Amino acid sequence: MAIERTLSIIKPDATKRNLTGKINAKFEEAGLRIVAQKRIQLTLAQAQKFYEVHKDRPFFGELTEFMISEPVVVQVLEGEGAIAKNREVMGATNPANAAEGTIRKDFALSVGENSVHGSDAPETAAVEIAYFFSGLELVG
Ligand code: CMP
Repeated sequence: MAIERTLSIIKPDATKRNLTGKINAKFEEAGLRIVAQKRIQLTLAQAQKFYEVHKDRPFFGELTEFMISEPVVVQVLEGEGAIAKNREVMGATNPANAAEGTIRKDFALSVGENSVHGSDAPETAAVEIAYFFSGLELVG
């Protein structure tokens, strides 16, 4: 399988509870390399743009307000099949459905406050990485 890169976000519910290191350990244990990472405070406009695909969903307002409620950690994860592997490590969107040992099973509070975001396909990974990082910031 090819080496891929995927965009990951450690969300406000997790940064607030000081879980960045524990979540990063799960990525690294799964063989994902954190090749870029920064802690940022999103503006509402930035959160709305990032989640534009969900703009007509009933939870859009709740989602974007939540994403600006505390800082987030945005990161690029690299590895073999990194997009699917990251989604495996994260677990199901709703922690009630997440498998044992996954990040969302262990740390998420609800479907909204679900601790992490990960790109869902190569095309979205490329767009999402470019949204937060310049080429110069990506050091494999
Ligand atoms: P994420 O992977 O960041 O992509 C979109 C997010 O919308 C998702 O994780 C959830 O956190 C959020 N989301 C999905 N469904 C709901 C819902 N029913 N209520 C609130 N937030 C939701």
